[in-house]
Amino acid sequence: MIERILPAAVIAVEAYEDPPDAALFPEEEQVIAKSVEKRRREFTTARHCARQALARLGLPPAPILPGERGAPGWPDGVVGSMTHCDGYRAAAVARSRELASVGIDAEPHAPLPGGVLDAIAREEELPHLDELRRASPGVHWDRLLFCAKEAVYKTWFPVTHRWLGFEDATLTFDPGGTFRARLLARDTPFAALDGRWTADGGLIAAAIAVKPL
Ligand SMILES: CC(C)(COP(=O)(O)OP(=O)(O)OC[C@H]1O[C@@H](n2cnc3c(N)ncnc32)[C@H](O)[C@@H]1OP(=O)(O)O)[C@@H](O)C(=O)NCCC(=O)NCCS
Repeated sequence: MIERILPAAVIAVEAYEDPPDAALFPEEEQVIAKSVEKRRREFTTARHCARQALARLGLPPAPILPGERGAPGWPDGVVGSMTHCDGYRAAAVARSRELASVGIDAEPHAPLPGGVLDAIAREEELPHLDELRRASPGVHWDRLLFCAKEAVYKTWFPVTHRWLGFEDATLTFDPGGTFRARLLARDTPFAALDGRWTADGGLIAAAIAVKPL
């Protein structure tokens, strides 16, 4: 699913189940030693996907440890992103000479829990979502807004090493499968980030890939 919305320079691997043979490096094992089973499974399978993706780039298996503010530590010369939600895990990687950053996010394709939309949407995004809902009622646009904003953060952070709040970007969607995030934060390296989205089999996903700056 995620590969469809990423350019050819990105290698993406996804999993709909947790393979029993997925293994961690000892330093990764340490990170989740005290975590609950659900966290252990998503962490492990996402890394299983990431190592398969890295192998397709020609790179050997390596630990992928959460670094600054949770951002994954990729091998030198690699940019990438990981996501996990119920029933889905994915990793996407590319050579940093080809792309400056990649951000992916997947979510269950269901309405957001009550109260969340107000916390994540800017005022001007609400009438836009209403319009989209009227035009394409089969899409949970509130969930897509959340999903795309998460992808924006995952793209933004590895480049800037700075926090970006939900109010710091304003998003517009095209029902055909694209979106644009206009960045409102100060000193942003990108005026806007362009991404693609898809909904399939009970999931909704958003992906952004940025050319070298
Ligand atoms: C970090 C965050 C984006 C993760 O998204 P999520 O939907 O909760 O969870 P997902 O399963 O999709 O993604 C988790 C993965 O994101 C990655 N991630 C975590 N922090 C990250 C960061 N600072 N930068 C880039 N990637 C990050 C990690 O790979 C993590 O998986 P791991 O812990 O197994 O390595 C989210 O929890 C968050 O803090 N959001 C607030 C900031 C934001 O979204 N702002 C909107 C700006 S418009």
